[in-house]
Amino acid sequence: MLIDSYDRVVDYIRVSVTERCNFRCQYCMPEKPFSWVPKENLLSFEELFEFMKIAIDEGVKKIRITGGEPLLREDLDKFIKMIYDYKPTVDLAMTTNAYLLKGTAQKLVDAGLKRINVSIDTLKPDIAQKIAGKDVLKNVLDGVNEALKVGLKVKVNMVPMKGMNENEILEVLEYCKERNMSIRFIEYMENTHAKVDISGLKSKELLEILGAKYKFTDEGFDGSSPSHYYLLEDGYKFGIIEPYEDDFCKKCNRIRLTAEGNLIPCLYFDEAMSIRDSIKKGDIQGAALILKEVIRTKPEKNRWGGEDGEVSTRAFYETGG
Ligand code: 5AD
Ligand code: SF4
Repeated sequence: MLIDSYDRVVDYIRVSVTERCNFRCQYCMPEKPFSWVPKENLLSFEELFEFMKIAIDEGVKKIRITGGEPLLREDLDKFIKMIYDYKPTVDLAMTTNAYLLKGTAQKLVDAGLKRINVSIDTLKPDIAQKIAGKDVLKNVLDGVNEALKVGLKVKVNMVPMKGMNENEILEVLEYCKERNMSIRFIEYMENTHAKVDISGLKSKELLEILGAKYKFTDEGFDGSSPSHYYLLEDGYKFGIIEPYEDDFCKKCNRIRLTAEGNLIPCLYFDEAMSIRDSIKKGDIQGAALILKEVIRTKPEKNRWGGEDGEVSTRAFYETGG
């Protein structure tokens, strides 16, 4: 089992297979980075899989494939199948913007994928264009429908932003509720790569908006997810992700691996250790030691709620948020 210095069990790894993305979301990658990681620096799926095996053997039970946009990487289904065949009981999920899902969802399910998270920040095509930098809404919604059709469980993320999509919070929740998809509202996390003038809604503001239409009870946390859950009277649950709250990191159970092989203990910080050379040399023991060192140095907390006005310099598109 992987246990960090604050007694948190780490059993969840998020693996980014590419930092490239076909969207330019304002909160993540409003402009194309000056240069992409050269393709030859990416670990191959075989190499990433070598590390997944180590992580699984050390106690990882949940693997989420992220990007950038993971579906931009060819043969992603083969990577999913490698993990599935190694341990079918691993909870295998993917975060995607859904743009390319329509043509790929069935293949992903056949390979062993169970669940996806997608962003639906708006149901208005022009606002979607503003947020993602291109006209994406139709493909996204078609992709989501296809995912539901082929039996994937779908969780929706929405980042509510002032003057942008704050007036659609109830509509997006309804949209998800009607389709049996759960929704999590994510407080915008400031980072130096995002567009500077974004102002995200905080949990308190969201609850006021939701409270005007619904009655709900506070369900707290469920232990395996960072979201704070609320239960509507009809049994539908929604979540709010509150990284600015003091106790947000208390139950953190995750680490992240970038496509180049950097192992990251916390989304907020730039600190990382590379497993790249060990994996390339076939040094399994060496890679396992690096994994343990990263777990040992996992920080107690992020600093989003800090008083000092510090902003994270970590690029979310390298780590899949
Ligand atoms: N703040 C909050 N959420 C973000 N995401 C990406 N960047 C940010 C940010 N700065 C989330 C989006 C997307 C997921 C991949 O990460 O909701 O669904
Ligand atoms: Fe948007 Fe996700 Fe792409 Fe970032 S990685 S630009 S959040 S679609």
